Amino acid sequence: MLEKIIILDFGSQTTQLIARRLRELNMYCEIFPYNKFPEKDPSVIGVILSGSPFSVNDKDAFKPDLSAIKGNYPILGICYGAQYLAYISGGKVEKGNSREYGRAMLAPANTNDLLMKNVKASAQVWMSHGDTITQIPDNFKIIANTQDVPCAAYRIEKEKTWGVQFHPEVFHTEIGKTILDNFLTICEAKKDWTPAGFIESTIDKLKKQIDNDKVILALSGGVDSSVSAVLLNKAIGKNLTCIFVDNGLLRKNEFEKVLNDYAYLGLNVIGIDAKEFFYKNLAGVKDPEQKRKIIGKGFIDIFECEAKKLKDIRWLAQGTIYPDVIESLSITGTTIKSHHNVGGLPEKMNLKLVEPLRLLFKDEVRQVGRELGMKEHLIKRHPFPGPGLGVRVLGDITPEKVRILQEADDIFINGLREWNLYDEVWQAGVILLPVQSVGVMGDERTYENAVALRAVTSTDAMTADWVHLPYDFLAKISNEIINKVRGVNRVVYDVSSKPPSTIEWE
Ligand code: XMP
Repeated sequence: MLEKIIILDFGSQTTQLIARRLRELNMYCEIFPYNKFPEKDPSVIGVILSGSPFSVNDKDAFKPDLSAIKGNYPILGICYGAQYLAYISGGKVEKGNSREYGRAMLAPANTNDLLMKNVKASAQVWMSHGDTITQIPDNFKIIANTQDVPCAAYRIEKEKTWGVQFHPEVFHTEIGKTILDNFLTICEAKKDWTPAGFIESTIDKLKKQIDNDKVILALSGGVDSSVSAVLLNKAIGKNLTCIFVDNGLLRKNEFEKVLNDYAYLGLNVIGIDAKEFFYKNLAGVKDPEQKRKIIGKGFIDIFECEAKKLKDIRWLAQGTIYPDVIESLSITGTTIKSHHNVGGLPEKMNLKLVEPLRLLFKDEVRQVGRELGMKEHLIKRHPFPGPGLGVRVLGDITPEKVRILQEADDIFINGLREWNLYDEVWQAGVILLPVQSVGVMGDERTYENAVALRAVTSTDAMTADWVHLPYDFLAKISNEIINKVRGVNRVVYDVSSKPPSTIEWE
């Protein structure tokens, strides 16, 4: 049985990071709402209590009963988690004289403590709290302090319970990983979470779950749906049918390229050319939200129609990943609902959902893809919006505008690859502006389209910054687009960050 650590989420912005750090230590873990501890799961070997936006003294603060956990499992409380453990044990938590935000230097008080093993004196840690533990109960022992906080970390004696007021999960806490690893040693963790192990156990699980049923999967060309497809293919082979739709809004030659890739992976893929259908539905529509809806509905119609031709389909497979699941994990309510990428389809078609990657982070999906022998260019492909170039042709969409955009986009993306810039960039693309401007080519005055280049860095698409691409590169791309793409006489570079802008223009 795969061992796991449970992270109880009290609403901190860094809860996901705790899970990521543990996974980096090859420890499998899952996040649960603060009041939903899975009591009957024998694979749980330890519990982490996260931080919270609340103070333990707030009327609305989350205050679950921890009696099933405390004393029964090794526990690490982080920030609010540590303060809450002190608070329920009779300690005092008060507004600190000096609120500690950001950098602080840790001084371990007792280097023999298991949690502080290999933690050097004066290690940088990251704090983010207004409250502090001002009085500890008798059975608490302080194991580290900082200049401003006498109780930066403690242990409860005769229990395997620890608390730290700083955040070991954030990058700026130098010894964060050491502390989390020490906690895993306390839990006697085997740390057996690896991509290869994941593949083996997932294939096993999928075989049992699906048995001889038939499954369909909507491929997007992106890494999540592709890795899901390859895993399912290994588990159930020909009972998996993948559908890949050309909505006329893909990148240049993308349909053929992606189908080719899937062929080498041995997948059973039906490619559907639905360009005309989408162009017809989109004709004359300018409003971005309406365009999105038309594209989404068109996809569902095509998918449903194709799926009906295949007999006895029982399952819909989706490339949902853990951040999607966490986003819909409600810590105030009781439901943990799954993200439906293909909105509404499972209910409409009476299909059961299978989501082989729902507990993986993006970088883990990539590792699994590599382990499955998938090519690097597929694994490292930039994110691409579901409505495709539909949200990058601003205003109404025509086949000619899509052609112009595809040509310009192809030059930009190939250029990024040639200059070894592609992997440094989170996402890049070209936007066709609904603007004509005057130019001069040869002896002739032109009045043609302007395009904007967009390239951003990001880690999760929640925030993003524009990439400082070399001027020489921008000059070359601009030249090439204006010279080669009929219909474009001006290229600009988007230098807006998110927020306040977004990555896409529509
Ligand atoms: P924004 O533009 O909101 O985008 O900063 C964040 C990320 O989401 C992608 N994106 C979409 N993906 N359907 C999608 O599947 C959409 O309608 C959509 N809009 C934006 C965007 O490309 C970026 O990666």
